[in-house]
Amino acid sequence: MDRWFALTSWIRHRRMALGRYGLHSPYVYALFNEVALARDQPQGVADIETDRKKYRCDPTPVLTSDPGAGSSRPSSRTIASVARHALKPPAQAAFLFRLARFHGACRALELGTCLGTTSRYLARGLKPEGQLHTIEGVPEFYHVAAQSFNREASGRIVPHAGHFDEVLPELLRREGHFDFVFLDGNHRYEATMRYVNKIIPYCTPDAMIVLDDIYWSREMARAWNEMRADPRFPLTLDFYHVGILVLSARQQKEDFRLKWPLSLR
Ligand SMILES: C[S@@+](CC[C@H](N)C(=O)[O-])C[C@H]1O[C@@H](n2cnc3c(N)ncnc32)[C@H](O)[C@@H]1O
Repeated sequence: MDRWFALTSWIRHRRMALGRYGLHSPYVYALFNEVALARDQPQGVADIETDRKKYRCDPTPVLTSDPGAGSSRPSSRTIASVARHALKPPAQAAFLFRLARFHGACRALELGTCLGTTSRYLARGLKPEGQLHTIEGVPEFYHVAAQSFNREASGRIVPHAGHFDEVLPELLRREGHFDFVFLDGNHRYEATMRYVNKIIPYCTPDAMIVLDDIYWSREMARAWNEMRADPRFPLTLDFYHVGILVLSARQQKEDFRLKWPLSLR
């Protein structure tokens, strides 16, 4: 992570971002209220948080190297250090839960399962018949996550083990028509652009693509800035921690910077 860049981007974002009262679009106003300002959590989230606490104390070493890039994780890793540094915190995971629910998402895809805590929040935001496919390249993480998915409703989360480049093409061909995509795997410009371009043809016409850590580094910000200018995304929402691309044909091209509520940290 480029900490100086992330900090200066945060200050610029706070100065320019709109709160609820600056929003003229009814859709964006509703999203801001129901997703960013609301505080509700998925039902029974305590079990996910109990697992998170357990992972944070787990000294099991992780021997496989990170298939992604751009991480500031320590080089000798344990499940505990990964749980402390790589997972989205509960408030941000709950934001994704509410976003999926607001969107009425049913068929979701996640790149970067890690230990599966955010996957479980996300899956609980889907419609009752919904399903989340999630991909993880580190076998140790995959096994921890897959075990925890047994505690979710049967078939709700389908984990896939392997490098995105190997798993994604076949998964897209087989499962296609995703209406909600969360990219939280490889924070490099080239990889981010490549995965978004690969996934778009397999999205529904009104799909939402969420990119994590868009100000992690200059190259992530470059990818985000190119995508927010891209006419394939008529609506883009910059929440600093995440960037949201909306494919909907209903919207005119609009780009919003929205205040990340400090209560979500
Ligand atoms: C930041 S973590 C994901 C955190 C997770 N979404 C959460 O909030 O709980 C990124 C994960 O993506 C995985 N990853 C990165 N690049 C990958 C690739 N090219 N193929 C497969 N997995 C990858 C890493 O091993 C890591 O577990």
